[in-house]
Amino acid sequence: MTSKRRLFVTTALPYANGPFHIGHIMEYIQADTWVRFQRMQGNEVHFVGADDAHGAPIMIAAEKAGKTPQQFVADIAAGRKQYLDGFHIRFDNWHNTDGPENHQLAQDIYRALRKNGLIAVRDIEQFFDPVKGMFLPDRYIKGQCPKCGAADQFGDACEVCGAVYAPTELKHPYSALSGATPELRKSEHYFFQLSSERCAEFLRDWTQAANAHGQPHLQTEVLNKVREWFTTDENGHGGLADWDISRDAPYFGIEIPDAPGKYFYVWLDAPIGYLASLKNHFDKGQAAQHWHAPSRTPQSFDAFVADPAVEQVHFIGKDIVYFHTLFWPATLHFSGRKTPSQINVHGFVTVGGEKMSKSRGTGISPLKYLDIGLNPEWLRYYLAAKLSARVEDVDFTPEDFVARVNSDLIGKYVNIASRAARFISQYFDGKLGYAEPSNALRDTARALADDVAAAFEAREYARALREIMAYADRINTAFDAAQPWILAKDEARRAELQDACSRALAGFWLLSVMLTPVLPALTARAARELFGLERDFLWGDAAELPQHTAPYQHLMQRIDPKLLDQLFENDSSTATTANPAANPAQNPTAATANGKPMPSTTETAAQDPFITIDDFARIDLRIARIQHAEAVEGSTKLLRLTLDVGETTPDGQPRTRTVFSGISSAYKPEDLIGKLTVLVANLAPRKMKFGLSEGMVLAASAADEKAQPGLYILEPHAGAQPGMRVR
Ligand code: 2FM
Ligand code: ZN
Repeated sequence: MTSKRRLFVTTALPYANGPFHIGHIMEYIQADTWVRFQRMQGNEVHFVGADDAHGAPIMIAAEKAGKTPQQFVADIAAGRKQYLDGFHIRFDNWHNTDGPENHQLAQDIYRALRKNGLIAVRDIEQFFDPVKGMFLPDRYIKGQCPKCGAADQFGDACEVCGAVYAPTELKHPYSALSGATPELRKSEHYFFQLSSERCAEFLRDWTQAANAHGQPHLQTEVLNKVREWFTTDENGHGGLADWDISRDAPYFGIEIPDAPGKYFYVWLDAPIGYLASLKNHFDKGQAAQHWHAPSRTPQSFDAFVADPAVEQVHFIGKDIVYFHTLFWPATLHFSGRKTPSQINVHGFVTVGGEKMSKSRGTGISPLKYLDIGLNPEWLRYYLAAKLSARVEDVDFTPEDFVARVNSDLIGKYVNIASRAARFISQYFDGKLGYAEPSNALRDTARALADDVAAAFEAREYARALREIMAYADRINTAFDAAQPWILAKDEARRAELQDACSRALAGFWLLSVMLTPVLPALTARAARELFGLERDFLWGDAAELPQHTAPYQHLMQRIDPKLLDQLFENDSSTATTANPAANPAQNPTAATANGKPMPSTTETAAQDPFITIDDFARIDLRIARIQHAEAVEGSTKLLRLTLDVGETTPDGQPRTRTVFSGISSAYKPEDLIGKLTVLVANLAPRKMKFGLSEGMVLAASAADEKAQPGLYILEPHAGAQPGMRVR
């Protein structure tokens, strides 16, 4: 091993006002996979999380629940472990931003910024709720949109017309807390002078720069977004604005030094919570006991965070980029601290192509997932198989989930061990033996493991898993070609049998090593139960060849699709909500940083004459090839179409769909065969007298079909392929 890297890794700190949803779990799985990969390389990693405790929404929720905010946060925090353990997410420490470390650090950092001349104090006018006796955050002021007149819009942006405005521009404003008409009042606020030339200059450089290890701080797409935030128009508008970091009492937060009645805005102290959790982890000195793994460095927190060799890596979602790419590095830099090495941004989880919504019953509740007995590693695998280093949404589709896991994990991976180990136990007393010199086998393994390692390092998990599964295919093909079941019948061919099975098991060993970041529990069992290793796999094991195996123990089950039906049944135990930004009470800030809209995530009111792009995205339109068409006996209207929509069955066979279409007045079956058309692929299957219809083919006709007969099915331009999405 060359010199060991030292890493400080975090995931975004979740607001302590609700349980984890699938979006949190995906982020934790992404980060945990990376962390496990780094640990397998022998690197030193400190992976910490915490609850984001402060802010008006939590204060208000606590009040509603009749608890102190501290008690409220503690109760939420108590529920975290079951999720984290359940999905094998192994933080070294979990803390909360109301801990003493964070109070101390936030105040120290603030003092340093002030000393550096970057804090300004100005009066601002704000809406005040006379009934609640408090200033209202933008999201707690509602009223009529000043642009389009839509009722009940939030104080920062209109969900109907998309206009962005100040709360003071709303017509007929009212407090969402008390219903009272808010009054405009003046109050002194504290600002971090982000618009100062030295801040702007620093941030322009930092966002474009690479870290000490040569990787860019930001992904290209993130950098492009950030550049827009720097840009001013010809009138000098836009660009970085000073950041309002204070809130008036009553507020659940950290007091601003020398400013009685003033608290830090939650987003000032939230990222500092990363440092606070790390400090808490170091100060405990036995971070080892905290849910697992030994911290190997008896070093102080201060020395560690100041060490130029330490890499600080944050995993976050795309809704909080502004805070992490501008505010956070500036806060650190101008308070004399080291800045992050990498901000790794991911997209949201969608379900069947649409944003999750509790009301539509499309969310996935992580706890329910665990409760009904779905294997957490199926989800880890599935999400990893879809994750890249880009800021893309990750879509969970139940059928795809079942197909992917069953075909890859069971069909390709686990089956190797179950098929090969049987012969080794039966004929060779568990001893492996290879015909080829082991150096050659090792070199091949090392080369593959290097490629896969590069993919994990770059967070290109989908690519890593594609390479891994392609290798599993090669192992299976070679095993089948050797026909061990035939070799076994011939005593003279024992050496061949042993070689074929040993290579398959060596393949399984290598696959297991490379899958360990994603499937830690399964591979821990494989290492111990099958190969007798008394520890988890390390990356270096990739270049080793196993020498014996124990009899095969059942490692993993296929997914029963019925469990998925259960997961999506809309019952009251569905504890999930959409991503936090979709719930304004949970994320009052997503839309307001710098007064510029972040991607809006709220749903459109039912009475809206327009649908949103998300509504449209719910319809899964696919290119289909009409493989076969025939008349339906007993029907004058229908044709039975057999469609190729580019789908495969769980065991990788092409799958077609049957669709009954009322187009026989317009088309002869033989004229349709071979043609492409467009299918509504996620229409609920419909039982008809003639069989099950699995979708609908699109056709055009006049509004008054009697007056103007004619039916024309849609056909794409040349080049479209079955399975392509129409959008
Ligand atoms: O958006 C959120 O859920 C915030 N609680 C994330 C904070 S991340 C960090 F800054 F603490
Ligand atoms: Zn409007």
